This record gives sequence, C-alpha cells and structure tokens, in this order.
Amino acid sequence: MSFKVAVVGATGNVGREMLNILDERGFPVSEVVALASRRSQGTEVSFGDRTLKVKALDQYDFSDTDICVMSAGGNVSKEWSPKIGKQGCVVIDNSSAFRYDQDVPLIVPEVNPDAISLFTRKNIIANPNCSTAQLVVALKPLHDVATIKRVVVATYQSVSGAGKEGMDELFTQTRAVFVADQVDVKKFTKRIAFNVIPHIDVFLDDGFTKEEWKMVAETKKMLDPKIKLTATCVRVPVFIGHSEAVNIEFEKPITADEARDILREAPGCQVLDKRENGGYITPLESAGEDATFISRIREDSTVDNGLSMWVVSDNLRKGAALNAVQIAELLVERGLIQPKKKAA
Ligand SMILES: NC(=O)c1ccc[n+]([C@@H]2O[C@H](COP(=O)([O-])OP(=O)(O)OC[C@H]3O[C@@H](n4cnc5c(N)ncnc54)[C@H](OP(=O)(O)O)[C@@H]3O)[C@@H](O)[C@H]2O)c1
Repeated sequence: MSFKVAVVGATGNVGREMLNILDERGFPVSEVVALASRRSQGTEVSFGDRTLKVKALDQYDFSDTDICVMSAGGNVSKEWSPKIGKQGCVVIDNSSAFRYDQDVPLIVPEVNPDAISLFTRKNIIANPNCSTAQLVVALKPLHDVATIKRVVVATYQSVSGAGKEGMDELFTQTRAVFVADQVDVKKFTKRIAFNVIPHIDVFLDDGFTKEEWKMVAETKKMLDPKIKLTATCVRVPVFIGHSEAVNIEFEKPITADEARDILREAPGCQVLDKRENGGYITPLESAGEDATFISRIREDSTVDNGLSMWVVSDNLRKGAALNAVQIAELLVERGLIQPKKKAA
C-alpha cells in the first residue's frame, strides 16, 4: 500500500526537511509532489536521490492525492487546507491556523495518538508549535507518573523557527558585523546577530506574546487542561535547535533520579545528563537528530515536588517535519487512510 503525498512549502525550511524525512523513514509513497508559490514554480528540490520540479499550489488538483503536508504559513493554510480536505485528501498542517479548532486534532504521536481519530471531521490534523512539541514529549512521561501542576518555561529559540528568511538574516548580519558593514534589520524586531530578542510572534493584551500563549493552549489541548503553564519565549542567534529551561511542580513526589529513569525509557526522549563539563546537550548537537534531548535534571527545593531540566530538540524535525511524518505514519499504522489509487 502506498500513498500519493503532496508537500506544500517544499522550498521552505520545514518543507525541505519534510522531503528528507519522508525519504529517510521510507514512508510508503507512490508519488511525491513538491508544491510552493508561483514564485518557485519550476525550481528543483531533492527527494532522496531524485529531483522534483516544484509546481504551483494554486494550479494543482488534489483529487487523486492522499496526504498533503502543509508548511506554507497560516494564511495559505486557512485558504487551502479546508478545500484540500474536502477533496478527500488528509491535510497535516504545520501552521497555527487550525491548532485550536475543536474539530481538528492536535497531535504529537508520543503524547496523544488516540486523539487522531477526530480528523475525519475536517480531514485536517494539526502539528503543534515547535517549542510545544519538544516540551510535551518530555513532560508526558513525567505527568503520567507524578501529575504536573505547574510549568515555568523559558525558551531559547533558533532563527530557523522564523523560516529561511530568519536564517538568512542571522547569516547576513553576522557577516556584516565582522566586515564592519551596515547591519540591516528586516525579519526580526532588533538585531539578532550577537544578541537575544525576548519577543516571538505578536503581543497580546495581557503582555504575553502569541508564541507564549501557544505553548499554554497547546500543552493544555494535548496533555492536560489542568496543567498551569507560563512561558517566556526568546529568539537566540542559533541556526537550528530550540532549547528550553523548564521548571516543573508536581502533585506527587518525584526525585531527579526517578525522572531520569522514566525519561530514559520514554518514547522520543534521550537523556544526556552528566554533572561534568560538557555533560549536557546543546542545540548545535541536536541539529539533524530526531530525539528530544533532556539534560540538567535536578530537584528544585524552592517548591514542593519541584524539578528543573533542560530540553533541546531540532525544531525543523521534531518541532515540525518529523512530527508531521510521524502523524502520517500513525494514520497508516491505524488503518485510518487508504490510497485513492490502488496499486496496479
Ligand atoms: N520553522 C519551524 O521551526 C517551524 C516549526 C513548526 C511549524 N512551522 C510552520 O511551518 C510553516 C513553514 O515554515 P518554514 O520555516 O518552512 O518557512 P519558510 O522557510 O519561510 O518557507 C515557506 C514556504 O511556504 C511557501 N509559500 C509561501 N507562500 C505561499 C503561497 N501563497 N502558496 C504556496 N506556497 C507558499 C514558500 O514557497 P516560495 O519558495 O514559493 O516562497 C516556502 O516553500 C509555517 O506555517 C511555520 O509556522 C515552522
């Protein structure tokens, strides 16, 4: 059984990673179609050892396509995902357009795989925000054992989370600083080279940013609506890999050793935690990896049943493309999707 898969946003950061991961994991494809805007029509992207010519989304007919992975931003998704879903093609959407829709499941396969069955309502499945995906992978196994009451998280988010323009801006500004050239600020609100910016997405009325709000809403939707979470989201001059300093308050007692043992066995998690120089993960090492890495696990005696830890993952993989491909795999494993075209 194999599926015709369309990747929308195939020329972007997430789309290119999507093509890599579909190939690496041997997802059963009969055909892969690369789609983007008309600007990129005719350009080429790689899929394994093959080269795909990019087609324009607004000229493509989805009627014989089985799965569409959308990574072209919220506005494109709002316009196209419902239309594509109505044509009987299951959309896995990386944008925030449908994440909070009650009729759209928001899925991290290690966390809430059973919620996927809801997808038939709109034929859309949402992929979470990159910072939330890695966080819930690390929180879920601990929540199952000791019940999380409250989480305080500060993120250190790489520029690739802001798309290819974000990566270009860090590169260009860094070079400009070294050659004493003028440093232009376009994508970010302040200079990102040799700086950090405590502002991701738009400001909300309560002073939090939309990125911070997403972490709250998505954790509640996927893990447990009773969990209280507060976040500070910060952009840092790192190309790939989001890091998070996480403080957790549990209902039941849990030691650092117990947490380490639980996380060592947990799906999608890798513990790298030695109390010595370099005995922890950094974003540089997480780039290109599938795991959510956890380091610096320690008890926090300032609250009852408190733990602190450091969580790092490749935002383009677990935070986006890998999670989307895992969702597609889950559809296939559970027999929730059949190819429209039967193999000859
Ligand atoms: N980066 C992350 O860590 C991350 C994590 C989770 C979710 N996401 C989400 O994934 C999506 C893509 O992010 P990204 O980082 O890959 O952005 P990106 O590098 O800027 O790429 C954007 C892609 O969207 C395409 N596109 C733009 N307008 C289009 C249109 N009107 N019709 C068809 N295609 C269009 C672009 O094609 P052209 O080349 O033709 O312009 C490009 O392929 C966003 O919704 C983002 O929020 C990103």
